[in-house]
Amino acid sequence: MSVNSGASKESVTFTDNSTGKSFNFPLLPGTMGPKVIDTRALYGETGHFTYDPGYTSTGSCESKITFIDGDKGVLLHRGYPIDQLAEHSDHLEVCHLLLKGELPTASEKEKFEDGIRRHTMVHEQINYFYRGFRRDAHPMAVMCGVVGALSAFYHDSLDINDPQQRMIASFRLIAKMPTIAAWAYKYAIGQPFIYPRNDLSFAENFLHMMFATPCEPYNVSPVLAKAMDRILILHADHEQNASTSTVRLAGSSGANPYACIAAGIASLWGPAHGGANEAVLTMLTQIGRKDRIPEFIAKAKDKNDPFRLMGFGHRVYKNYDPRATVMQKTCHEVLDDLGVRDEPLLELAMELERIALEDPYFVERKLYPNVDFYSGIIFRAMGIPVSLFTALFAVARTVGWVSQWNEMISDPEQKIGRPRQLYTGATPRDYVPLHARG
Ligand code: ACO
Repeated sequence: MSVNSGASKESVTFTDNSTGKSFNFPLLPGTMGPKVIDTRALYGETGHFTYDPGYTSTGSCESKITFIDGDKGVLLHRGYPIDQLAEHSDHLEVCHLLLKGELPTASEKEKFEDGIRRHTMVHEQINYFYRGFRRDAHPMAVMCGVVGALSAFYHDSLDINDPQQRMIASFRLIAKMPTIAAWAYKYAIGQPFIYPRNDLSFAENFLHMMFATPCEPYNVSPVLAKAMDRILILHADHEQNASTSTVRLAGSSGANPYACIAAGIASLWGPAHGGANEAVLTMLTQIGRKDRIPEFIAKAKDKNDPFRLMGFGHRVYKNYDPRATVMQKTCHEVLDDLGVRDEPLLELAMELERIALEDPYFVERKLYPNVDFYSGIIFRAMGIPVSLFTALFAVARTVGWVSQWNEMISDPEQKIGRPRQLYTGATPRDYVPLHARG
């Protein structure tokens, strides 16, 4: 392969060694990050596909929403660094930024918040859906079902070719997701559903729906509301991760937004993705004491043991995940504000991080703590049950999913997602009747 640059556009040339023929492919520049080789004509010109399981070297779309530099540990939303957004912004403002491209003016912010507030309730009939689930159902199972079912209720926002309907569906999803997640929790613990209160902020309302009961007043703690808001910001979008790519792939066939987001929730549930925050806490509980850390580090390094250090490593970050930096700081702040001293799991997590970051195995592979490493400890301190951790992630990520889905539908280059394969199965053979099979 050679790179050609000159007066004309940059390109790369591949030579097929079997035929000696050379093929030229354009090199496309982004505003930041590595250039990409435009291989759209590859099959037509060469008769070959690329092979890239897990898409480690494949750009699946053009996007203007989020930029990550994994080597430097940089995360930008529409150009704004995540630490600045976490410090100065609030979740709904970040929602506006992701969905509409810019931070809102004061009047735009008010209008946007009002628009979201208008959609916080779910159709009353959705109540009955919950009753079909076992009480011990995992909240993510309930969320997949209930969010998918929204398509059966909101027929006025299913036309994906109408930008107005797409925006209504996006508002509905952002607004209803906290209600759906909080109700999944209430259903599991046998308490009555608490309806949204539109005089509260997004984060306050979510906490209210989770923790209030009809029998006594519930005052939302400003400390918890602030922490929840920051957690929502930190999880709002993350470029073309597994769940976002799932949403895009489902949506590429023209599927309705509610079905696409239900697909995203299913993908997020996995322990290698959003399920990691739950897995981190389970792991820390399992480790239990500082003197057992070396045993678990050894397990994580053992190729014959499937155990991995949960909350460590990332496909893109080969440096500290910038969200983990903010999350660690938030974790200390929340515990301080709540008056929680000497939280054993936090101490265990910090010691585990220290030992892992000095271990050549983790250093050589550039395995650093990711966003999930500390989030579970904050959630626990806030009184959120472990099984709800990933559902909370889904609440936060909804804006990322709908923003990316909207961007995809509006992209004139959008096509149905249809990867190819390297076939290694049987070559043609004749059908063998049952009686003749050995
Ligand atoms: N513990 C131990 N070893 C690890 C870990 C880990 N957490 N993560 C990666 N490795 C090792 C792999 O065994 C591999 O070693 P090898 O080169 O000797 O074979 C090497 O590091 C590269 O790992 P890959 O699995 O190839 O990296 P990939 O990019 O496919 O995986 C992933 C990234 C899935 C996040 C992985 O690091 C992991 O499983 N981490 C734990 C789960 C987790 O925390 N997920 C949350 C991700 S962030 C998010 O979704 C919000």
